[in-house]
Amino acid sequence: MILVTGATGNIGRSLVGRLAGAGAEVRALTRSAGRATVPAGVGVVEGDLDDPGSLRPALTGVEAIFLLRTGDTDTSQILKTAAEAGIARVVTVSSLLAQTHPDSSVGRTLLRGEQVVRDSGLEWTILRPWEFFSNLLFWAPAIRSDGVVRAPRPGLPSPAIDPRDIASVAASALLEDGHGGKTYPLTGPATLTPQEKIAAISAALGRPLRFEEDPSLATEDPADDLAAAVSFPGVCAVASPGALSTVEDVTGVPATAFRQWAIEHADSFR
Ligand SMILES: NC(=O)c1ccc[n+]([C@@H]2O[C@H](COP(=O)([O-])OP(=O)(O)OC[C@H]3O[C@@H](n4cnc5c(N)ncnc54)[C@H](OP(=O)(O)O)[C@@H]3O)[C@@H](O)[C@H]2O)c1
Repeated sequence: MILVTGATGNIGRSLVGRLAGAGAEVRALTRSAGRATVPAGVGVVEGDLDDPGSLRPALTGVEAIFLLRTGDTDTSQILKTAAEAGIARVVTVSSLLAQTHPDSSVGRTLLRGEQVVRDSGLEWTILRPWEFFSNLLFWAPAIRSDGVVRAPRPGLPSPAIDPRDIASVAASALLEDGHGGKTYPLTGPATLTPQEKIAAISAALGRPLRFEEDPSLATEDPADDLAAAVSFPGVCAVASPGALSTVEDVTGVPATAFRQWAIEHADSFR
């Protein structure tokens, strides 16, 4: 049995489908079972990651866990409970900022979170994705209203990733041997500017869209420069490590191109 936390989210929803499709026994964790839609045969269990005691029923009989941490999650307590329940394997999500900006406050927080997983005694795999394609759904109201995406800065080319590809890597790490002790940096297949992403959405919708810089939208009082640089969804102002091949290396399938995601999600922008 594999427990998927964050099962109703961008990665988790897709991961549940991939694991069930591979024939694995899957249990999906949510805080509200009534809202969760899962494939036939997948069990749904309620639990709150911020209340590790509430997870005991969810953890019973589980061999591996996909652990999506939330802001307040006490990961060490969850992993202690998981180890006591006999769980052997954990796959978790950090961020590539842990590698590119280890000395920032965000980077330090991510690295501390990763270390808790490495120290858990379970066989661990850590996924470090760059920004997600799904962040661009934030642009949908603007695209629907007047077709103009306004952002505080032009942004830098960025190799954003389809969360479904993160799910594919997670599925490999959960189902196969050989991923224990690995930290996987994950990006999409190409670096694109915000303007290039808007052009791809425009092509998918068949109508013109444009980008407009509006410095007045800058976040007031950001925690630090890095927090400011990643604060506006889809307009990353942080230098990236470029497009990496990890998704294909791990899964054997190339990472999804943004234009493909845009076509498949066009209705969200209509
Ligand atoms: N977006 C990015 O660009 C980016 C980049 C790098 C890393 N990341 C990391 O990726 C993760 C986000 O992944 P995602 O986009 O798949 O998540 P998501 O779509 O935001 O979904 C999060 C899920 O977590 C569940 N959840 C939230 N709080 C919970 C709690 N207290 N107890 C139990 N479940 C809880 C929610 O499910 P219910 O409401 O059903 O309980 C929700 O479906 C974060 O760790 C983030 O730091 C994101």
